[in-house]
Amino acid sequence: MNLGTTILKCRHSVRKYKPDPIEEIILKDILECARLAPTAMNEQPWLFGVITGRETLERVAGLIDHGKFIADAAACFAVFGKKNAKYYLEDCCAATENIIIALQAYGIGSCWVPGEKKDYAESVRTALDVPEEYTLVSLVPAGYPLDIPIQKKKPLKDIHFCEKYTKE
Ligand SMILES: Cc1cc2nc3c(=O)[nH]c(=O)nc-3n(C[C@H](O)[C@H](O)[C@H](O)COP(=O)(O)O)c2cc1C
Repeated sequence: MNLGTTILKCRHSVRKYKPDPIEEIILKDILECARLAPTAMNEQPWLFGVITGRETLERVAGLIDHGKFIADAAACFAVFGKKNAKYYLEDCCAATENIIIALQAYGIGSCWVPGEKKDYAESVRTALDVPEEYTLVSLVPAGYPLDIPIQKKKPLKDIHFCEKYTKE
């Protein structure tokens, strides 16, 4: 048994949340975990937003195609990458996963909602008054779970190899 890997293995995407707010001290700690993610050349080319105001949550939710549940989240993290940094996408994805796992460690559910490849990225950026040099990479709505759906995963034997790949 290992606490870190157990937390990781217990994570599932959660899209239905209790109305309870997330304590300020937890939100701060989650941002700390985002800030400490690895980045190429330690560039840290990012900006993290945390939204808890219902009006803003609803406004952002209204812009998203497959993330309307943002409107009911206790909070939503927004990860923006600095476009001129070569590896901003990888860096911001590392931070996004840190946010999700850190939330899980507090028993808070969340779901990865993409930004970078989506038409709504620009409208979310402007809705949050984020400077033009940044682009939305992801949104992470979060809240204490009401429902935890468990998705089927591919078995390890089908998706890994040791040393060199061989067909069957
Ligand atoms: C890049 C990426 C984009 C995703 N986009 C959405 C999305 O737009 N809406 C949504 O509800 N879930 C989204 N998800 C969550 C996936 O649907 C979810 O991770 C997947 O079904 C596996 O379930 P699990 O997270 O519970 O293991 C996304 C996840 C990733 C990593």
